[in-house]
Amino acid sequence: MSTTMWTHRPSPGAETSAPRRAVQLVTIHCDDDELDRVVTAALAAVPGADPGGLTLLTVGEDVDGPAAGTASDPLFGDLPRHQIIALVPSRPGPDAEAVLGHVRQLVSPFTTAERDRIARLNPLVQETVRRYRAAGTDLSAATVVFRDHLLLEKLNILDGLVALGLRPSACLVVGKPDRTVYRRRVTADLARSGFVVADPDDASFPVHRWLAAAAPDGPIVVVDDGGDLVLDLLARDGLRSRVRPIETTTKGIRVLRAAGLLDTVVNLSDTSTKSLMNRRIAVSCVYRFREILRHEALEGQGCIVVGYGRLGRRIAELLAGLGMVVRVVETDAAARQLARAAGFEAVADVRAATADGRSRFLFGCSGRPVVPMAAVRAMAANPVLVSASSQDLRPVLTHLRRHADARPVRNAGVRYELDGGTVTVIADGHAVNLYLAEGVSEPDYDPFTALMLTAVVETATGAPGRPDPELWCCRVADLQLELRD
Ligand SMILES: NC(=O)c1ccc[n+]([C@@H]2O[C@H](COP(=O)([O-])OP(=O)(O)OC[C@H]3O[C@@H](n4cnc5c(N)ncnc54)[C@H](O)[C@@H]3O)[C@@H](O)[C@H]2O)c1
Repeated sequence: MSTTMWTHRPSPGAETSAPRRAVQLVTIHCDDDELDRVVTAALAAVPGADPGGLTLLTVGEDVDGPAAGTASDPLFGDLPRHQIIALVPSRPGPDAEAVLGHVRQLVSPFTTAERDRIARLNPLVQETVRRYRAAGTDLSAATVVFRDHLLLEKLNILDGLVALGLRPSACLVVGKPDRTVYRRRVTADLARSGFVVADPDDASFPVHRWLAAAAPDGPIVVVDDGGDLVLDLLARDGLRSRVRPIETTTKGIRVLRAAGLLDTVVNLSDTSTKSLMNRRIAVSCVYRFREILRHEALEGQGCIVVGYGRLGRRIAELLAGLGMVVRVVETDAAARQLARAAGFEAVADVRAATADGRSRFLFGCSGRPVVPMAAVRAMAANPVLVSASSQDLRPVLTHLRRHADARPVRNAGVRYELDGGTVTVIADGHAVNLYLAEGVSEPDYDPFTALMLTAVVETATGAPGRPDPELWCCRVADLQLELRD
């Protein structure tokens, strides 16, 4: 194990008032030859900071185990990583905190070796970019707002757009409030590359104000996941005629349809390429559910699936495949019939489904805030709730957060204690496959990722109006066949 030490002379105040030391650990991922640069830059880059007695030790290369994340990081597990141990005064002043914070930020972006691996996850995206480049595509005049989960594949899309000339400073990235594995590192990486990145946990970022300052004229391509950003921008006088919206999700299309705006949007949610993804999304949800509950017996247990739509029907089948006794709640009569034809009990109301107390598990798949506390109270003792969307469990979570004691269950979610029992909310109500996980594996999602990239490029460079995304789906499918051959 190699150890390097950077010592900083304490300031006069620190010498006298802070003899005791506290230890903080920052795990970093970088090659040996990058380490010196990273730490020196971290210390130099806090203007006027007095490290206040800060000492940084690096413990090198063979740092391993859960602290370094290696065990759960098969993508980068064999690459070199270092751990910085910072010795700080027991009452570290703001300067020492600033330096440490900066170290964390500086070391978070991906290394060159990691970026190479990430790029290889999306061969269709890379080939699509190569072809656009060969055709002379130029995005240097484009403005893009990109709202999505900050998954590794999104890094590849944004990188691809920059390779085609997009100025990172003309691209605002708005993450979503999930708990994906690499969200902090993706955020740091994008910031390092010059993208403007809004805090994914702060839904109040004023996108319209950023647009007014950064892009006072010209068209704006807005990629949205959920519809509300597009809805907001289209309601603003100065922006309405400039926004070219692209929506990727079922929920977003529902929101825009309800507002009478469906005709203005490029709809990727209802494309053939997206429909190919539904089974893969369902598998990633059930797989993650099973993984989180790996110490629970599921066979023979009752599970209520709320919503028997594109995802719900596949999730119901997969849960039945695990041996669970699945009951369906579905408001749409035709979908309810489909559920019955597939052999499931099906009712229209979630309270009717839970009333007999036979089910301990509930899987939300409707994409709407539909599960109330009253329904959960009627379930079997100590119920376990999980969802494929961030919406289904909202009503019950609002109640639990207000009225129950919360106890985090590491890597699983939150257990709420009330009335002498517990309610376990897996992923604390986030989509289960995006909770300490990366959703569908990137190569499986590559066709849709390539479709998203294509949609941005075509929308930025094409004439105003609504193109047919099915043409792009065909192009992606052809490319996939070519690469396979
Ligand atoms: N985790 C992920 O990776 C991921 C990916 C895609 C979508 N999603 C989420 O999954 C949700 C569902 O997607 P989908 O494509 O299956 O949508 P969908 O519209 O095909 O299915 C939703 C179903 O829920 C039913 N429903 C509506 N209100 C209900 C209620 N009160 N009770 C019972 N059923 C009700 C609808 O009739 C419909 O059949 C999306 O809204 C999205 O939030 C998650």
